[in-house]
Amino acid sequence: MLRRSGWARIGRNFGQFGAIALLLSGGCVPRESISSTGSETPSGADGDTLRAAAAEAQRFIGAAAATWFFENPEYPRVLAREFDSLTPENEMKWYAIEPEAGRFTFEGGDKLVAFAEEHGMRLRGHTLVWHSQLAPWVKDLTGDALRAAMLRHVTETAKHYSGHVKQWDVVNEAFDNAGQLRADSPFSALGVGYIAEAFRAARAADPAAELFYNDYDIEAPTSPKTNATFELLKGLKEAGVPLDGVGLQMHIDPRAWPSADDMRQTFERFATLGLHVEITEMDVPVGEIPGTAAEKLAAQSELARGVVRACMSVPACTGITFWGLTDRHSWLSNAEWAKLRGNGPHLPLLLDEQYGKKPVYAGVLAALRGK
Ligand code: XIL
Repeated sequence: MLRRSGWARIGRNFGQFGAIALLLSGGCVPRESISSTGSETPSGADGDTLRAAAAEAQRFIGAAAATWFFENPEYPRVLAREFDSLTPENEMKWYAIEPEAGRFTFEGGDKLVAFAEEHGMRLRGHTLVWHSQLAPWVKDLTGDALRAAMLRHVTETAKHYSGHVKQWDVVNEAFDNAGQLRADSPFSALGVGYIAEAFRAARAADPAAELFYNDYDIEAPTSPKTNATFELLKGLKEAGVPLDGVGLQMHIDPRAWPSADDMRQTFERFATLGLHVEITEMDVPVGEIPGTAAEKLAAQSELARGVVRACMSVPACTGITFWGLTDRHSWLSNAEWAKLRGNGPHLPLLLDEQYGKKPVYAGVLAALRGK
């Protein structure tokens, strides 16, 4: 699934925003050494854009991004024009950052950090501890060796990006849908305490970053998984574990989805813990929505608008991130993942494959403007 081809070309193209300097420096570079593209509005914040509307609404609006899409100049241009928050879709995951024990490869993440900083975008780090897209060597570890590997990974990664990442998804997807520690995660065998340990290590490595727990299917107010997550986060707060926020992925399945009012209740419930609430990976696949193509897109717009309105009605809800830039770049354009949402095509994002604005773009923009 992960597209590796074209790295050499990407290396050349990234010169345009200073990533070569970044690579040579071996880490995150100071702002002044990042070159400007010149032609771009530096902040992209002017005019009729999502980021202008979001700034007005005091919310962040984000997209997941990957360096391998930057070859097409339209991609970085539209990304910086519309969004003021960026999440590396894959390049800060364990398999990418520490593919072999103790060998850290920060290049992809560094390029995205440099791009975000050049364009005045916040960066959400994703993700430090997750059972999926883990480097294969980690799966062979158990007990103290696994715990030590986890703590080193969290520490080295958060330290490297210290000062550059505004929010970290420290632990991703710890529970299954019944609200139990997932059976398919090697970390579950360490006991639930691994979660607190990961947060403490992240805080020690980067005292300024806001630390998030992130998961899917926790959007309904009282499902077993939402309840288990709420109890986990409550326990962490009570124990003084450094936890600042909860990320609700919001990979919408229109066949079974809570109402906007239910989502508002969920956001409010998490907010009672004193947490930021962010929508971290939103997409709205239309494949299984009944009707004509136009009806599907209209329903998509209404669903997304409901989510944004729910966020707007809860002050603790500080940001909304979409899981990709255009329909072409969505993980649901890959057949393997698309199956999770029934029959496609899913066309789950705000822009079409030609970067054109879809009805859902207008719906989100209106909701950000309080309409
Ligand atoms: C997905 C990426 O979008 C794909 O490119 C990759 O092949 C698999 O992972 N929950 C998460 C994200 O937290 O990291 C996942 O991203 C989607 C589900």
